Amino acid sequence: MSTLTVRKLNVDLSNGFGRHWAGGDAYRTQLLNALSMTFPLGEQSFIDSMRAISEQRVADPALRAEMRDFIGQEASHRFVHVQYNAELAKQGLVFVREASIARRMRYLARSDPLSWLAATCAVEHYTAVLADCALRLPALLAGAEPDMRTLWSWHAAEETEHKGVAFDVYRAAGGTYGRRIAMYLTASVMLAIDIGLQTTDNLRRDGELWKARTWRSGMRTWFGADGLFWQALGPLLHYLSPRFHPWQYDNRHLATDWLAQHADAVRSAGTRDAGRY
Ligand SMILES: [Fe+2]
Ligand SMILES: [Fe+2]
Repeated sequence: MSTLTVRKLNVDLSNGFGRHWAGGDAYRTQLLNALSMTFPLGEQSFIDSMRAISEQRVADPALRAEMRDFIGQEASHRFVHVQYNAELAKQGLVFVREASIARRMRYLARSDPLSWLAATCAVEHYTAVLADCALRLPALLAGAEPDMRTLWSWHAAEETEHKGVAFDVYRAAGGTYGRRIAMYLTASVMLAIDIGLQTTDNLRRDGELWKARTWRSGMRTWFGADGLFWQALGPLLHYLSPRFHPWQYDNRHLATDWLAQHADAVRSAGTRDAGRY
């Protein structure tokens, strides 16, 4: 009944990847590495916030099925990013934002389940916007090592597929506009701080922080012709509308096209495999 599929990724990261796997570009590599570092904690929080909402509060059986598959997809992402981050640790990078993010996640877990889910909706919107950029624009993953391109594109495709689930559950469970916006504004500030500081620390440990080419790439990545800032600004502001819904922007074809063209990159996680999550 669910429109989602839980998949596993056919990529083996045990042989590692390059220090500048994103086309030799230190800035793009360390920005994406910083995001990856936050995913295991963040995605566990998404999963737990969904589990904290009793299924009795969600009348639609199809949405209840999507809640379960959302959890399966996020667990699958988490599994891969834990391996990814183990390689980053071998490269000498340190997840310096870990304690601060973990503290916030513990605070959310003790708060009202709807506030926790509102935080999940907020960060899911950011991941959906970034996923859209990753699938639609060639610049972000330009020159990336094939396995890393596959990993990020698969994650982006599934983030696109399930971008409405947390939002729909939040509304079905009685979440209000005010709480949604309060958590979005808070999450926006926290995300900017976490990703900014983590990217900077990654670049510093990588010995690339004070190189002009690093910051040229940073400016291009955010403010160039297809820069993330320009691409993301409209969709990020759109979330503030009382009438916002993630599927008002229907980009499902980006996910289905990528998955159709890369059928070998993933396999469906059957019930036996799903037990590993
Ligand atoms: Fe994810
Ligand atoms: Fe997600």
